[in-house]
Amino acid sequence: MTAVTTTHPETFRPALHYTARNTWLNDPNGLIHHQGVYHLYYQNNPFGNTWGNMSWGHATSENLSAWTEQPVAIACDEQEDIFSGSIVFDSQNSSGFGTATAPPLVAVYTSAYKNASPLHGVQAQSLAYSLDGGFTWEKYAGNPVLTRNSANFRDPKVFRYDGGAVSYWVMAAVEAEDYKVVLYKSEDLKTWEHLSDFGPANATGGIWECPDLFALPVDGNPQELKWVLTVNLNPGGPNGGSAGQYFTGDFDGVTFTSDSTITSGAQDPDRLQEYHWLDWGRDYYAAVSFSDAPDGRRIMIGWMNNWDYANQIPTSPWRSPMSLPRELSLATVGGRTRLVQNVVEEAVCRGEVPAVQSGPIHLAGETRPIPAATGTVQLIEADFTTGTAEEFGLIVRGSGTEGTRIGINPAQGRLILDRTASGDTGFHDGFPSVDTAPINALDGRYRLKIYVDHCSVEVFAQHGELVLTDLIFPDKTSTGVSIYAHGGSATLESLTITPLI
Ligand code: FRU
Repeated sequence: MTAVTTTHPETFRPALHYTARNTWLNDPNGLIHHQGVYHLYYQNNPFGNTWGNMSWGHATSENLSAWTEQPVAIACDEQEDIFSGSIVFDSQNSSGFGTATAPPLVAVYTSAYKNASPLHGVQAQSLAYSLDGGFTWEKYAGNPVLTRNSANFRDPKVFRYDGGAVSYWVMAAVEAEDYKVVLYKSEDLKTWEHLSDFGPANATGGIWECPDLFALPVDGNPQELKWVLTVNLNPGGPNGGSAGQYFTGDFDGVTFTSDSTITSGAQDPDRLQEYHWLDWGRDYYAAVSFSDAPDGRRIMIGWMNNWDYANQIPTSPWRSPMSLPRELSLATVGGRTRLVQNVVEEAVCRGEVPAVQSGPIHLAGETRPIPAATGTVQLIEADFTTGTAEEFGLIVRGSGTEGTRIGINPAQGRLILDRTASGDTGFHDGFPSVDTAPINALDGRYRLKIYVDHCSVEVFAQHGELVLTDLIFPDKTSTGVSIYAHGGSATLESLTITPLI
């Protein structure tokens, strides 16, 4: 482990990932595509770079690649913090906040009431509306619109449910400490009626937060839709701390019925590996999807951090990046429906020419540097076949002393990301980690697509069926890429490395 105490913190500001200029951020909120603009609101402390003064920060983009930070959209006040939530385009002006010809955007957020409020200690759902396309917001005078007198009722994700004969707004929120997603419906976004509850199920090693519910075609067949319920939990992730799980199933406008529940009620610690994880790494949390993304795409962004050490990561004046945006689809794999995630092409594709294109390379008990591949922001695509090696893979952001190891142990069927020597790991005891996920060869191959940035690695394996995202804080001079096979042989069938800046 090398402490990089002399590195200027701006070294870590990502090139490809959104960060606030000089403040703290956590969960993405209110993701929506509207009038040609992607809006990314987020949990933000406008006055500092640790958690507090929760307000909705705001950034906009036309391409999911270049983001412009905007003024704070919805600010906390002495009575309430503005916790996570979502935004819908109320095209029929059902709420009455706009007019038929100028319908509003409506934000549904959690009011976390503070001591100065008569409702202190309660979390309830509130509205704000925008009549200028999402740049300025007015809080609704009738807030809150939905309370359960609960201290842990939060993170409303609202969408329009169209069930043929019926159509209404649906809200998925959580009773965090009961491990429950609670579903409500409304005609006007102001009056809500309880529909049903889902949970506890599968992973319940931590409180449930930030749910999402949407339908996707299975294997690209628009006639065969399945519903996906995502729910984030903290702690209780497969490698510790914050993480997100998903369920597949059906939603009939009232009830979500899961076909992927392995355990109901209390979780079985022995089955943690079998639950369905949005990401197996330690730094993908509070993920939610965009409303109204063009062409029916389902695009999701997560907060790239972990509550275990979120406030301590060694960056300044900003703290915490967002993940790259991911496009979601469903595929049948081994008779089971699985979520497949891939980075949205336009978020990183800038017409670059690969620096390295080679293969096959036979490796036998060696670590081999790829000198032409040095870089700090790159896409690495590597396809391996196994020989006799115990482990094979790549080391990225390497130097003589530092490196992040991304490997496959075929006998154990594990994908491994070792960040114990990745750079500055000393800021929190929980940070240095070896994170693993189950992986099987697909047509005899292990395919890795790795996005490397100044403070992160996002590993998409087997065409995106498996994702592992981790923060790293390497020295800016650690730019090496190596490939290795330990304890025997393996073949790197093809290797493409493309600089992304
Ligand atoms: C998730 C979360 C949410 C809450 C927000 C507060 O990271 O705890 O449940 O709304 O952060 O910032």
